[in-house]
Amino acid sequence: MQLDLDFVRAQFPAFAEPSLQGQAFFENAGGSYACKPVIDRLTRFYHQRKVQPYHPFEASRLGGEEMDEARSRLAAMMGIATDELSFGPSTTANTYVLAQAFRQHLKPGEAIVVTNQDHEANTGPWRRLADSGIEVREWQIDPVTGHLPLDRLPKLLQGARLLCFPHCSNVVGEVNPVAEITAMAHEAGAVVCVDGVSYAPHGLPDVAALGADIYLFSAYKTYGPHQGIMAIRRELGMALPNQGHVFNGEVLYKRFTPAGPDHAQVAACAGLADYIEALADHHGGAGLDPRGKAALTHDLMRAQETALLQPLLDYLSSRNELRLLGPRRAEGRAPTVALQAEAPAGDLAARLSRHGIMAGAGDFYALRALKAQGIDPAQGVLRLSFVHYTSRAEVDQLIGALDREL
Ligand SMILES: Cc1ncc(COP(=O)(O)O)c(C=O)c1O
Repeated sequence: MQLDLDFVRAQFPAFAEPSLQGQAFFENAGGSYACKPVIDRLTRFYHQRKVQPYHPFEASRLGGEEMDEARSRLAAMMGIATDELSFGPSTTANTYVLAQAFRQHLKPGEAIVVTNQDHEANTGPWRRLADSGIEVREWQIDPVTGHLPLDRLPKLLQGARLLCFPHCSNVVGEVNPVAEITAMAHEAGAVVCVDGVSYAPHGLPDVAALGADIYLFSAYKTYGPHQGIMAIRRELGMALPNQGHVFNGEVLYKRFTPAGPDHAQVAACAGLADYIEALADHHGGAGLDPRGKAALTHDLMRAQETALLQPLLDYLSSRNELRLLGPRRAEGRAPTVALQAEAPAGDLAARLSRHGIMAGAGDFYALRALKAQGIDPAQGVLRLSFVHYTSRAEVDQLIGALDREL
């Protein structure tokens, strides 16, 4: 079955917004449009429930219930228990807090493995554990392809306690085999922390099936509000030292979220579940359980994106003056395509904007990945990123604009 794009786009007010008409959006990896159920819930919360939640009066009770609903419905879709999911201000804040927990948990001399493919959020905070005597080993990408070579991993993992890696890099775009890598880490006695920020917009992950001990992503890139979403396996979460208030230490979903939650945004995240469910129901999945609905929408999204991505990759590969980062085949990669051009990337993005192309340029906080591929982060890359709601006409508009500006 094919994704019904008219149905999809009707769920996003941005597509009906007069000021955005004619604008083709290709900076989705930075932050996606928000879907209507999220915007509606956010609006309702601010109008009707903007009080301290979890008290007995009606507005407060409803607010608290909606926050709980967001956690329980998303957790069910990801195949994890409700208390294994928590919200934090951002993925960067979540990894920072987790790294403090591991700083207390690990002993000097113990080792962790990080990559140079990650966004800084899932590598910088972990590397700082070296200050506490932790040995930090780097799993390095291939300088030409940006690929993380699995054959290097067994040696790096010897005696390691933790492996941090991305499901998909925000500049290389290749989807890493999380389940396989996680199995290798577990075999070696290490736990894994997976940055799913660049993958989750392309289909909500089944964290249980991936086997990840920690899985992180950002709701504002998955059609929601500005929140970080963290899944952590209960056994690990209870073994790591509590980073929240001392009296919250027995509540797993409060252990790694020391800040008071953004009530309205947490509640609005239930709108993500509404959206996924609506998509599944519309495409024949009404009888499925939440996990099944998430799996169906994941597959529909990936199929739609892959079909649109290959022509773009073929076009970009045909331009000799461009260096296309990551794989040239759409299967196995996200539609997040970084390019090194002869012209400065920022100038190119500005020129594309004259043709109604919304794209960005820079280092995208993936400085290590760019440097490892021989790219000066100051020069940066042009990044073209889209998601399932992007139309073929928009991809054609992009190719036409590139044709004129390259
Ligand atoms: C791959 C990846 N990881 C992590 C982050 C950081 O997420 P947040 O902005 O929620 O801290 C980003 C943000 O762009 C990202 O692209």
